[in-house]
Amino acid sequence: MILKGVKVTLRPVRLDDAPRFVKWFNDPEVNKFLFYRSLTLSQERKIIREKLQKQTKQSTHFCIDTKSGVHIGVTSFDSIRERNKNATWGIVIGDKRYWSQGYGTEAMSLMFEYGFKKLKLHRIEFDVYRYNKRAIGLYKKLGCKIEGIKREHNFWNGKYWDTYQMGILDKEWKG
Ligand SMILES: CC(C)(COP(=O)(O)OP(=O)(O)OC[C@H]1O[C@@H](n2cnc3c(N)ncnc32)[C@H](O)[C@@H]1OP(=O)(O)O)[C@@H](O)C(=O)NCCC(=O)NCCS
Repeated sequence: MILKGVKVTLRPVRLDDAPRFVKWFNDPEVNKFLFYRSLTLSQERKIIREKLQKQTKQSTHFCIDTKSGVHIGVTSFDSIRERNKNATWGIVIGDKRYWSQGYGTEAMSLMFEYGFKKLKLHRIEFDVYRYNKRAIGLYKKLGCKIEGIKREHNFWNGKYWDTYQMGILDKEWKG
C-alpha cells in the first residue's frame, strides 16, 4: 500500500531502512520524544522483521519519504482493535533537517484519512510527552484532544514529566 500526498509519500517499511531508524532512535534530540531511547542495528532488524510478519489486520507501518525519495521518518497504526474499531498511532520525522516544514502535518493527515476512511476506525489514540510542544501543537491543529494525563510517567533530563493521552473520533476528523 502506498499513500501519496503533495510533499510526502507513505510506503511500506523495508529491512534496508533499518540503519536510518537506528541513527534516529539513538539521537538524543529525537529520542527524547520517543518510547525508544537506544537501539542496535540487530535489534532494529528484528523489530522490522516481526512487524513485517504482523503487517496484517493488527498493525500497519509506513515509511515517510519526501517527493524526491528521501526517507525522513515513519508512521504507524499499532494494535488495530477490530472489534472496537480503534487503533494506536505514532509518528517520527527522524531526520531533524525536515522538522517544522509541514511534512508531519501531511503524513499525519494521510494516515488519519487512511485510518478513518479505509480502515473504518471509530477512534485513533496515542500518547505524547508533555514537553513535546511541536507535536502537541500539530495534534491539536488536526483536531485531536487531550483526554488524560499520566502524571510523572516519563523520566527525561533528570526529572519526571507528565504524558498526555490524546485521541480523536471519526466524527471529529475534518480530513
Ligand atoms: C512532531 C512531528 C511529527 C511534527 O512534524 P513536523 O513536520 O515537524 O511539523 P509540521 O511542520 O508539519 O507542523 C508543525 C505544527 O506544530 C505546531 N507547532 C510547531 N512548533 C510549535 C511550538 N513550539 N508550540 C506549539 N505548536 C507548535 C504548529 O501547529 C505547526 O503547524 P503550523 O506550522 O501549520 O502552524 C516531528 O517534528 C517529529 O517527528 N519530531 C520528533 C519525534 C516526535 O516528536 N514524534 C512524536 C512523538 S508523540
